[in-house]
Amino acid sequence: MDALMLLCRPGFEADCAAELASLDFVGYARAVANSGYLHWHSADIAAIDLRRLIFPRTGFRQTSEFSQLSESDRLTPLMAAIEPLGTFAELRLEYADTNEGRGLQRFLKRFRGSLEHALKQQRVVTGNGQRILHIFFHDSCNGVIGVSSDGEAGPWELGIPRLRLSGAAPSRSAQKIEEAWLKLMTEAERSHWLREGRTGVDLGAAPGGWTWQLARHGIKMTGVDHGKLAQSLMDEYPVQHVSADAYTYRPPKTVDWLVCDVVDKPARTEACMEKWLVNGWARMALFNLKLPMKQRFATVQTLLQRLETALGDRKVIIRAAQLYYDREEITVVVMPVERA
Ligand SMILES: C[S@@+](CC[C@H](N)C(=O)[O-])C[C@H]1O[C@@H](n2cnc3c(N)ncnc32)[C@H](O)[C@@H]1O
Repeated sequence: MDALMLLCRPGFEADCAAELASLDFVGYARAVANSGYLHWHSADIAAIDLRRLIFPRTGFRQTSEFSQLSESDRLTPLMAAIEPLGTFAELRLEYADTNEGRGLQRFLKRFRGSLEHALKQQRVVTGNGQRILHIFFHDSCNGVIGVSSDGEAGPWELGIPRLRLSGAAPSRSAQKIEEAWLKLMTEAERSHWLREGRTGVDLGAAPGGWTWQLARHGIKMTGVDHGKLAQSLMDEYPVQHVSADAYTYRPPKTVDWLVCDVVDKPARTEACMEKWLVNGWARMALFNLKLPMKQRFATVQTLLQRLETALGDRKVIIRAAQLYYDREEITVVVMPVERA
């Protein structure tokens, strides 16, 4: 049976498996709790759209496994397994996001040079096309080889963006919204929504990382929170602070962006987002759903279906992902189709 190799936040393997099991394809997961990855076996893996999955950070279609590579010559057996696979735009060397996985970084830094050289020399990695060659290492001698295409593995090796946190950012959450834009919105959508003249409301805004990111794009922001927004943010941008409850605040007129990072029950957050979108108080929304410890995928599925049903005939795009900078939560974006 064919297999997908999927990388995720350690501890979310069962949620990835539950998500795959909810698709209409027969299959089964091979996973170890807290390993940061799982294998999904199915006769239908070609029909699975990796881009739509919420919990996996990245993934690929497995072509072979390698084991017991000799430390004196890893290249020869790897090249023998790779060369029949055709040509690739890019090579990704991956490992689990665990202490053990990260322990491979030094080895991979050294090995990458010689492997890239061999792949270029044999014209396997040409820089052209959409296919990516993935090599996942369990350790320096054992792992999995596979292929992804058409952007299905997402923009980053390991599914991990390396975003710089500006010293001016009021909080680390600034990285989260930046990753959401890069992962959940296309370039065209970003240039449409993230521009001067737009307006936005940030519910649960303090200390202001998300508001700061939006304000930097020229978006006129209102931050709603009983807590204070960073003074540097208030000094630099035309941000309005409203000390009010996120669930009862109502904007004086329709805004483009609604963002919300309040830590609360996910059903409460969904109901609030639904209210704003159904009433037309915001044109689009980007928010976090904080997840309970159990039944995380089932909760997400129920709430996203509830939102979709509530939005009825409105043509909207709903995308969701557990981002690298997300912890026990996922991030959701909802945009009207005609505005995309
Ligand atoms: C995780 S923090 C938000 C961080 C923010 N996104 C950033 O980038 O800096 C959650 C915020 O929600 C606020 N909050 C929680 N419940 C709220 C409510 N009912 N109304 C308004 N704000 C609320 C808290 O005061 C807190 O500042």
